[in-house]
Amino acid sequence: MLWPLLRWLLFRLDAERAHRLAHGLLRRVSPAAARRRRPAAPPALAVRALGLDFDSPVGLAAGFDKGEVTVPGLFALGFSHVEIGTITPRPQPGNARPRLFRLPEHRALVNRMGFNNAGAEACAERLAALPREARLGPIGVNVGRNKATPNEEAVSDYLACIDRLHPWADYLVVNISSPNTPGLRGLQEREPLDRLLRACVARLRERAPGKPLLVKLAPDLAPEALDEAVDVAVAAGASGIVATNTTLSRAGVEGHPRAREEGGLSGAPLEALATAAVRRCFARAGGRVPIVGVGGVMDAEGAYAKIRAGATLVQVYTGFVYGGPGFVRKLQAGLGALLARDGFARIADAVGADCRAPPGRTGGISPGPSPPR
Ligand SMILES: Cc1cc2nc3c(=O)[nH]c(=O)nc-3n(C[C@H](O)[C@H](O)[C@H](O)COP(=O)(O)O)c2cc1C
Repeated sequence: MLWPLLRWLLFRLDAERAHRLAHGLLRRVSPAAARRRRPAAPPALAVRALGLDFDSPVGLAAGFDKGEVTVPGLFALGFSHVEIGTITPRPQPGNARPRLFRLPEHRALVNRMGFNNAGAEACAERLAALPREARLGPIGVNVGRNKATPNEEAVSDYLACIDRLHPWADYLVVNISSPNTPGLRGLQEREPLDRLLRACVARLRERAPGKPLLVKLAPDLAPEALDEAVDVAVAAGASGIVATNTTLSRAGVEGHPRAREEGGLSGAPLEALATAAVRRCFARAGGRVPIVGVGGVMDAEGAYAKIRAGATLVQVYTGFVYGGPGFVRKLQAGLGALLARDGFARIADAVGADCRAPPGRTGGISPGPSPPR
């Protein structure tokens, strides 16, 4: 009831100022209060993936907490996991403001933040200071390269982040899909991706054997390029795929005054594109690694669609901005009801349900050629 009013007020402010205000509120939540207030997810939503336990599939996508580590406040809202970042080795201010824009008519955002963050050292210190009891679910750390580092030297930036941050991360994500660091998406091509992921996997295996490392991909890759990226990632030893980041496309928002702003589009207009990418990655990975579905999840039906398309976990950002503090609780309740409606006892049974062959037919619905064995 309060949220529509609070949202009305927040939406009168510049988007980044509203974001900072939200951070200020989240920072005030103590670990004890988080534990008390955290809504319990329906037991059927529990997920075991990446060697970790999640009490529901619904987590917070990277970019909301860029190393401020407002973790207790975020867990108090019900997120099963929180992905911090993107963190770069050295602090950087990001792009000039304004750099975050709302498109309320489309339930969308455009951002060109540009990896503004206080650097790996500051983030590691904040994570180290987090009491154990504040870790109410897995904490992921999403890492990237500094703007000033050319792609040819990017590997050392990712390794520096892994070295400094791995002790505090339950999983790591190699982000090569932000549209706001010039050239970054070039790291998704076969050779640089292979080199980068092999180096990161080797380093993490050396430092923390068994800790999962995922890679986050863009929704703008052509289907064949997505297949290739999945093949390279799996062969290099990545533990999972995060699909997807924001899109450069403006389909669905043409004509909106903010649509011409440079940056990545997120929220409702991204939903279909991101779900298609999840489906493609799921089919290509063939169960070898889990898919984390992100992009335009605005309600429980949207989260369920990602799961049925093959997502083991789902992350949200823009839906949370529009849906407010009760958003995760609503998603969890809705997901529980949708599972029951379709006769699934556990969320794991629904993963990829839309990609399986209907009874009486052989073979799954494959969007493309099957992966090499
Ligand atoms: C303001 C903003 C900042 C973001 N920053 C990052 C980031 O630093 N690293 C990253 O991997 N993704 C970042 N993202 C992308 C989100 O994690 C997510 O992939 C994307 O927004 C699609 O999900 P959504 O439609 O639920 O927002 C950002 C998104 C927004 C809106």
